[in-house]
Amino acid sequence: MKEQEIRPQVGWVGALHWDRRLFDSLIPLPDGTSYNAYLVRGTKKVALIDTVDPSKTEVLMKKLASVPTIDYLIVQHVEQDHSGSVPAVIERYPQIKVLSTPKAKGMIVDHLGVPEECITPVQDGETLSLGERTLEFIHAPWVHWPETMFTYLREEKILFPCDFLGSHVATTDLLSSDQRHVYSAAKRYYAEIMMPFRSAIQGHLEKLSHYEISLIAPSHGPMHDRPGFILDAYRSWVLDPPKNRVVLPYVSMHGSTWRMVEHLVGALVDRGVSVEPFDMASSDLGSLAMALVDAATVVFATPTVLAGSHPHIVTAAYLSNALQPKLRFGAVVGSYGWGGKAAEQVMGLLGTLKLEWFDPVFVRGVPTAETFAALDRLADAIRQKHEGL
Ligand code: FEO
Repeated sequence: MKEQEIRPQVGWVGALHWDRRLFDSLIPLPDGTSYNAYLVRGTKKVALIDTVDPSKTEVLMKKLASVPTIDYLIVQHVEQDHSGSVPAVIERYPQIKVLSTPKAKGMIVDHLGVPEECITPVQDGETLSLGERTLEFIHAPWVHWPETMFTYLREEKILFPCDFLGSHVATTDLLSSDQRHVYSAAKRYYAEIMMPFRSAIQGHLEKLSHYEISLIAPSHGPMHDRPGFILDAYRSWVLDPPKNRVVLPYVSMHGSTWRMVEHLVGALVDRGVSVEPFDMASSDLGSLAMALVDAATVVFATPTVLAGSHPHIVTAAYLSNALQPKLRFGAVVGSYGWGGKAAEQVMGLLGTLKLEWFDPVFVRGVPTAETFAALDRLADAIRQKHEGL
């Protein structure tokens, strides 16, 4: 595959990774991903914005084979899926000047072994003329790392926002033609890495509202030629209050906890509350993360294993806490064989969210009429709290 022109003198030289199935050895990538790198040519200078994952260095270098000179390598973000091919680019173009935020400079040295003298820090708002093409650098700390920046091509009004506004999708369509699919993939990506940094993300959205943007060219997934689509989606995920919705991660070993889940789902729906149950023995963590973006309440349903919660629920609770969603309320329900402290353990894992907790509902053995009545009371309490959202 050759370089593909996206605007006059602006080309996509990224790589598709169709069969990548996990990110961070944790988060499923149902649609693979892409590592987007862009060449911007002025009348005097040429700049490369980002590189690709080290596993795809060869793809990038083949696309650059016919490019005799690149003057600037703009490293917007040091995470290796974008910076991993920086050493290969420097080897091919030894005179290239690496540009990054001041914060990124030391990280590029430490993560990639690039000599410090090759790197020139750029300030927030600084511009770089390539000759009839002007790049503006926009510092954007905490998209999910502290060193990130965006780049804005003034003449074409193209924003290159790195991970921000991107999606893990491998597709030969450079533009986001299937908006429904891209919306879902972008929400999943936001949930997985950006949701914990909502206040910073809000700041980035505010900063970008002062720019006229005709094309958003992120570092993963297709580009957006209708910028309002993805910017409005982000505004809703970040700013809207939580919705009348319960996320319900559960595991059942012998059926007792499942019967409680089944009853609670019905009781909530009967009261007009939406529910998204996830069987954590088989659901992927990305789906759970995505559901947490909008929900007001999380209910963990767990059997008791060795006096504690089932390990899959421990993972779900740990991740829910780490992702810092807008959740306001929580509950733990489940069953046990002879005893244990599963509820206390789960609640202890969500300390930073400062949730308002409902009373746990636990049963020894199989659920009884009393158990179901307690679940009905829990559903009543959830509905009542959600009325105040
Ligand atoms: Fe796609 Fe934070 O790297």
